[in-house]
Amino acid sequence: MLSTRFTQHSLVTEAHKTIQDTLSADSITLDATMGNGHDTLFLARHSAKVYAFDIQQVALDSTYQQIEKHHFTDKVVLIHDSHEHMCLHIQADEQVDVIMFNLGYLPRGNVAIITKTITTLNALNQALKILSSSGIISILCYPGHPGGQEEMNAVTDWYEQLDSDQFAITIIHSMQETEQSPRLLIIQALAQT
Ligand SMILES: C[S@@+](CC[C@H](N)C(=O)[O-])C[C@H]1O[C@@H](n2cnc3c(N)ncnc32)[C@H](O)[C@@H]1O
Repeated sequence: MLSTRFTQHSLVTEAHKTIQDTLSADSITLDATMGNGHDTLFLARHSAKVYAFDIQQVALDSTYQQIEKHHFTDKVVLIHDSHEHMCLHIQADEQVDVIMFNLGYLPRGNVAIITKTITTLNALNQALKILSSSGIISILCYPGHPGGQEEMNAVTDWYEQLDSDQFAITIIHSMQETEQSPRLLIIQALAQT
């Protein structure tokens, strides 16, 4: 099932609003691109445990500051590794309820270090392996920087081949969208009865 909707909110806010409804105090979550830690902090506020990944030490430092300030260090696991290795870091008996991808480059960081199509696709395939039976993957794609459009096209090809009996997909656009604007994808696993 594929649907489309528009939002007046920023797509980061829209991702948080959509995800928050599905989280509980028992949820296990994963931030695949921790960056400055805003999504990690959001997940920590609403779940039991957060795994957060980034390839840049500066992202881990900045995220640690955020979670320390808000007293969440005991429930957040910061991992300095590519998200395509996420399965290696998750406990074998765990399934993850929410997995967030916020693609592109670190705001106020090195804009040359971006998520790459091949590693993003590998990570998305890993995410499917650890996602809980009614879990959600959110993907915020930015076509406006070099490589971003190619990455968004590849993510589109990836979700289009998912089994529509197993996943509901929603594409969320901002009201003021241009060709360069980000797009938010929500992939919801449909628990099989
Ligand atoms: C748009 S930023 C993320 C913003 C972040 N979620 C926040 O709330 O501030 C994208 C991040 O992805 C990271 N990144 C790039 N390639 C990665 C990879 N293969 N694995 C994990 N993180 C990666 C970048 O270093 C950057 O910090």
